[in-house]
Amino acid sequence: MLRSLLWVWLAVSLLASCAPTTPEPMVLTAPAGNLSVRLWLNQQGQPCYQLMLGTTTVVDTSALGFSLQAASPLYSNLKVVDSQFSSFDETWEMPWGEQRQVRNHYNEMRVRLVETKDEQRTFSLVFRLFDDGLAFRYEFPRQTAIDSLVILDELTSFRLAGDHLCWWQPGDWDIYEHIYNETRFTEIDALSKRNHPNLAQTYIPENAVNTPVTLRTDDSIYLSIHEAALYDYSDMTLKVDKQNLTFTSELVGRGTDNVKAVVALPFNTPWRTVQIAKRAGDLIESKLILNLNDPPKIEDLSWIKPMKYAGIWWEMHLGKSAWAMEGGKHGATTANAKRYVDFCADNNIQALLIEGWNTGWERWIGFDDREGVFDFITPYPDYKLEEVVAYARQKGVSIIMHHETSSTVRTYSQQLDTAFQLCASLGIPAVKTGYVGKIIPNTEYHHGQWMVRHYQQVVEKAAEHRIMVNTHEPIKDTGIRRTWPNFMTREGVRGQEFNAWSYEGGNPVDHLTKVAFTRMLAGPVDYTPGIVHLSLKPYKPNNRIKHTIAHELGAYVVIYSPMQMLADLPEHYDQHPVMPFLKEVAVDWEQTRVIAGEPGDFVAIARQQRGSNRWFLGVVADENQRSLRLPLDFLPPNQKFSLELYADAPDAHWDHKPDAMVVSRKVVSANDILSLGIAPGGGAAAILRPL
Ligand code: NOJ
Ligand code: CA
Repeated sequence: MLRSLLWVWLAVSLLASCAPTTPEPMVLTAPAGNLSVRLWLNQQGQPCYQLMLGTTTVVDTSALGFSLQAASPLYSNLKVVDSQFSSFDETWEMPWGEQRQVRNHYNEMRVRLVETKDEQRTFSLVFRLFDDGLAFRYEFPRQTAIDSLVILDELTSFRLAGDHLCWWQPGDWDIYEHIYNETRFTEIDALSKRNHPNLAQTYIPENAVNTPVTLRTDDSIYLSIHEAALYDYSDMTLKVDKQNLTFTSELVGRGTDNVKAVVALPFNTPWRTVQIAKRAGDLIESKLILNLNDPPKIEDLSWIKPMKYAGIWWEMHLGKSAWAMEGGKHGATTANAKRYVDFCADNNIQALLIEGWNTGWERWIGFDDREGVFDFITPYPDYKLEEVVAYARQKGVSIIMHHETSSTVRTYSQQLDTAFQLCASLGIPAVKTGYVGKIIPNTEYHHGQWMVRHYQQVVEKAAEHRIMVNTHEPIKDTGIRRTWPNFMTREGVRGQEFNAWSYEGGNPVDHLTKVAFTRMLAGPVDYTPGIVHLSLKPYKPNNRIKHTIAHELGAYVVIYSPMQMLADLPEHYDQHPVMPFLKEVAVDWEQTRVIAGEPGDFVAIARQQRGSNRWFLGVVADENQRSLRLPLDFLPPNQKFSLELYADAPDAHWDHKPDAMVVSRKVVSANDILSLGIAPGGGAAAILRPL
């Protein structure tokens, strides 16, 4: 009884604490008039906001502010100095991406606040409303009272208007390689969802979720909460307050103390974003996160090019060969590299990743003292770096350099310049970086401010040397590719590799149907699709890919990455019926249409190849058999297309008949509806060529 009284009191006082007072709430509406946000100060002088879609509350009264070390908190005793309203509308061109033209259209409200107390600290709240969502951030100008902020907690909150269905993964300070869960908000239980014994690093201190987190209201409004333009600050996880149906920002911290971030003024926080859609697919089509990032800081972009790549990679994950030379199973030998180069040259694959090329893999994992073990210039003696690069060049194939740091971040930082110089001198256009294991120094986490700075340093240094970057065990994507277009893709997802490691810990059948509506909203995903030998025999007889072959092909179109891997072994692709599709499938797009889909069920996406009239279509689906009817009205009118379809055979099934696929051809046009039978764990892929 006492407990429930306490809750009532808490709930009432929370509501009262954000009740509007004078001045009147300031209201901002989206260009289309569909969304509106209200901002006001409550009786304590704390800023609160509320977001509406028409007359429906999407984010209910939610408070903002900070608690700081050795300073009074920054969330009360504030008053409005002034407010400015403006509009913005431009269309910009992506150098590469899911589409060419992006419209950036929003209305903005900039509200300057100052403390009424002695110190009179000041900051602005900047709100932007797009037709597809809200973004806001805190902007701290230079000021006399303070020159920095030592942040203990950012108190940005998102109070939900109901106990929505959520697609979420645990708020981990070190890794995003978790399975996505589907539960009601009040059933989120991050602490019991670690999901995999092989996760080399994981730290989940709170019942919180990583972003993007995707939600669906009972009225079928889809929301995604995330952030944009994360620089020199910590990743925002969202703490779950079940009683108040509220997500509150929980920044990733560090091991030395309770501090979450230290920033020197002037400073703008990353944007906090709420995407809103009436159709789940519109979340994928939204470019809100990119629009909140600045235009490119690199002038000449001519060297930045999307590509398909193969790799001396899967064979190590299967245990066919090893990264280390010691042990006699070395994968990255000169002869093997040349074999892969030939495979690339024969199959329209522009680049080859070679892992295990440099010394140090004997002591890369499971050793506390790893500093200085890897260097990024010394090849193993059985791998002739220059010879391989020259052989590849002559065949028109580029080599992708691999820098596995084993999270010895200082070792890597010290060598960055030399390592990139080596790449540049050999004409190596791209590097894949990796951060397996706990960060050294072990007071830091992958997603904390210190590492956010490091990942950024690497991308900027790479740009100086005209090198593209693909990061594994990365910081999550917040749209930085708009400003740094050499940051092509990253992992930050439970990738294909998990399927090689164990059966139970492998990716569930519906994995990609959730990834498409969660992780992919942040940006490109290096999932590494294209395993066509689904059984993994003889190397891993007890593991397997839990998809059909058509699903694996569909992933090329559904899961966007400008560096897209053909992850399987060359010998497995030999004469395989999927090769015509894999040779032709594009990696850079003129436009993208999500035809249909629901998180956790299926998704069908059509993309038009950049600079071509050809379209590609991909479907990935969950464990249920289904029939889909997909309108082809994305095609230009009055034109015939030849459709080459890779579909599940009628008896296909991810478990007992994953290879059963039918390839068929017919003529279609924009008026047609494509009927597809999708197997359990199935999918489809198609090429549409104009006739
Ligand atoms: C983990 C990465 O995700 C994987 O792609 C890579 O092969 C290994 N680390 C070794 O660097
Ligand atoms: Ca990984």
